[in-house]
Amino acid sequence: MILTSQKALEILKEFKNKEKDTGWMVEHCICVGNTAGKIAESLGLDVDKAKALGYIHDIGKGIGDFCEHDINGYTYIKKLGYDEEYANICLTHSYLNNDINCTAGGFPEAIPFRIEFIKNHKYTIYEKIINLCDLMCKKVTLTLEKRLIDLILRKGVHENTIYHIQEAQKLKKDIDNMLGFNVYKLFPDILDNE
Ligand SMILES: [Fe+2]
Repeated sequence: MILTSQKALEILKEFKNKEKDTGWMVEHCICVGNTAGKIAESLGLDVDKAKALGYIHDIGKGIGDFCEHDINGYTYIKKLGYDEEYANICLTHSYLNNDINCTAGGFPEAIPFRIEFIKNHKYTIYEKIINLCDLMCKKVTLTLEKRLIDLILRKGVHENTIYHIQEAQKLKKDIDNMLGFNVYKLFPDILDNE
């Protein structure tokens, strides 16, 4: 079943008072969805799909343990009967490549399902866009650099932090190359946003 951006927003808003992280999950997800929508539009992709994926990517943060929000979100969207790609985004957004250690905030628990899923997954263009947008959004769209510093300040520096930053920079370059210009040009306020 297809998940429209409107339905995704409804699902997200049900979690408004169930946020288990720092209290900005809903606004952050809206920012990721809208930022992804703009990039998708410039690439001639399905804007509504990009938005829907962004709106639900962190839905697992409203369910259970924060460290397993990726798996919890995946299971939740799957149970609702939506197509695989909508469940997948809940897992894939936390990892920039096929290695679960390519993530922010230190090494995740080596849960076999998580390791195998990420190792064998072929990232779609939509997933790459969401991964970049997740690293360009708090409640507003920021430069990747500002957002990465924000993550370090909140989650600390770990053995895999440089690896994650390098892969994030590569991801931005890939999207810039696809667009044919710097992605920041799509967001006129980005330099002033805090
Ligand atoms: Fe996120």
